Amino acid sequence: MYKNMLIFSGTAHPDLTEEVCDHLGKPRAKVGIEYFPDGEVNVKVHEDVRGSDVFIVQPTCPPVDSNLMELLVLIDCMVRASAGRVSAVIPYYGYARKDRKDEGRVPITAKLVANMITKAGADRVITIDLHAAQIQGFFDIPVDHLYASPALLPYLRKLDIEDLVVVGPDVGSIKLARAYAKRLGNIEFAIVDKRRIDGGRVEVQNVIGNVEHKNVILVDDMISTGGSISEAAQILSDKGARKIYISTTHPVLCGPALERLDKAPVEQVVVTNTIPLNGKESSKIHVVSVAPLLAKAIDHIHRNESVSGLFEGWVGS
Ligand code: R5P
Repeated sequence: MYKNMLIFSGTAHPDLTEEVCDHLGKPRAKVGIEYFPDGEVNVKVHEDVRGSDVFIVQPTCPPVDSNLMELLVLIDCMVRASAGRVSAVIPYYGYARKDRKDEGRVPITAKLVANMITKAGADRVITIDLHAAQIQGFFDIPVDHLYASPALLPYLRKLDIEDLVVVGPDVGSIKLARAYAKRLGNIEFAIVDKRRIDGGRVEVQNVIGNVEHKNVILVDDMISTGGSISEAAQILSDKGARKIYISTTHPVLCGPALERLDKAPVEQVVVTNTIPLNGKESSKIHVVSVAPLLAKAIDHIHRNESVSGLFEGWVGS
């Protein structure tokens, strides 16, 4: 339907783009991205994109606003250069946590960002483990919502942990915890009763389910400041859990996250590379790659073949 496939990268995560390109057997398409002294971004595409199937890989991770703006400017550039189709590949979709008005006088940023991406001229969006699946509906263009579980679960299985229970760190993660428990062999799952005090602090009060003398995998979509996961790990340990592992898709890891993870009673933190660690290293963190998944999805989209077929039986948040 479209001419050739071209894979471009913003500056947020060029390593992931390279990996995706390697899996597709394609070179990364050339674009210049520079910043003016006042902080404005400017781009120039160094390829003929007319009629091409263009994919722009850019997670909107920190620095969120400049990565988002770069994505919008790249989309605009491709549209104005007469690309046949422009797909925004957003492995981590930032601003997702404000997805409803849960109190008066607040914005719905997940919708605002969807409007901006659509208005800039994207024809479709490819993303992984949205904070809430219904954010797909904020876009009036097709959204391919991929799951990270085909990358995470094989690694978790390899750990071969006995007496295992899966735990969700809040009531919002019940579905995810139940799905992981099923895929890990119909094992038990439990939930932590968490209350958010503000953006960086949470309070946990109880655990619903039995974790005593059990090894635990705590599953969540993201670790931001690490408050949720470290508080959850602490109460699980207090309730008698043995070894605690964390499995999460998006390592946002801002503020005190690394310090909290290092202090938490946790053996290992398994994350994906939807977001670059950029030096935020810890001996507890193990990274699995989503590049094979993204490459497969891009290839299927380019060939006009089913994407959901790739994920049958897998689980997402
Ligand atoms: C909450 O609904 C999310 O799934 C995560 O649990 C949360 O956003 C993580 O944030 P933090 O690491 O700052 O507690």
